[in-house]
Amino acid sequence: MAYRNLEIVHRGAVRTITINRPDKLNALNRETLNELTLAFTQAAQDDDVRVVVLAGAGEKAFVAGADISEMNGYTPVQGQGFSRAGQRLMSLIERLGKPVIARLQGFALGGGMELAMACHLRIASDKAKFGQPEINLGLIPGFGGTQRLLRLAGRSAALELCLTGAPINAQRAYELGLVTRVVAPEALDEAVNTLAEQLAASAPLAAAGILDAILQGGETSIDQGLEFETQAFALAFSTEDMREGTTAFLEKRKAVFHGR
Ligand code: COA
Repeated sequence: MAYRNLEIVHRGAVRTITINRPDKLNALNRETLNELTLAFTQAAQDDDVRVVVLAGAGEKAFVAGADISEMNGYTPVQGQGFSRAGQRLMSLIERLGKPVIARLQGFALGGGMELAMACHLRIASDKAKFGQPEINLGLIPGFGGTQRLLRLAGRSAALELCLTGAPINAQRAYELGLVTRVVAPEALDEAVNTLAEQLAASAPLAAAGILDAILQGGETSIDQGLEFETQAFALAFSTEDMREGTTAFLEKRKAVFHGR
């Protein structure tokens, strides 16, 4: 499948999806949203994919937001459709069942920050800038930003970032729990690749159980979350990977997981 706005590279068990509109700082227009939805749907279905890396082309931006030139002419109904399409994509990424790592350099603003927050792990260059500047356009975040920012960083930070629209640097984003790790720009690729390869070698069914338990647990009571964890834990005993992992430990060798 040829994409107009994405570049896809598959190496080992790692699929890298790069948004490729660098002249527009990788802004998310409707076509790019549709292509990302297709690319992530394929990544979810393909057993050869154990980890997805999401990146933006060029040095200047991961993604500088939803495409303002498209939104400028939208009616309320088109705005609603755009918001729903963006939210569906973010939920698809969050519930992919496989770890998704965001590679963050330059600007991650508006829809770019919302996209990063839908990923499970975020590695940022120390030159990266984050923010929800929609208020400066007379808008509000529409791809889940008010909700994921609230859940990831708390109410004070969510209100501050969305109401001021002011960008924050990578260090502040790290302190707020919005990024997993901050590295020098020249160390970004190695940090992302090392993490992706580590996750690609781990037990995929266990990873799926962890993603499910943590994501569902954030949305429910502690008792329901604990029950969900018990069910996912029990299910792990039905897998070949669990026998392999525990046997490899006892035999003092490295485990090889097949996702069965
Ligand atoms: N939507 C559409 N186009 C965008 C865009 C967006 N969100 N962000 C950047 N672009 C385009 C610019 O219009 C420009 O296109 P042009 O060369 O055809 O004029 C190109 O990308 C480069 O951006 P430019 O503004 O010239 O770069 P800069 O380095 O001066 O500024 C930013 C970078 C990120 C500060 C600035 O582009 C910006 O504020 N972007 C919008 C951020 C935003 O509000 N995002 C939330 C949207 S809901």
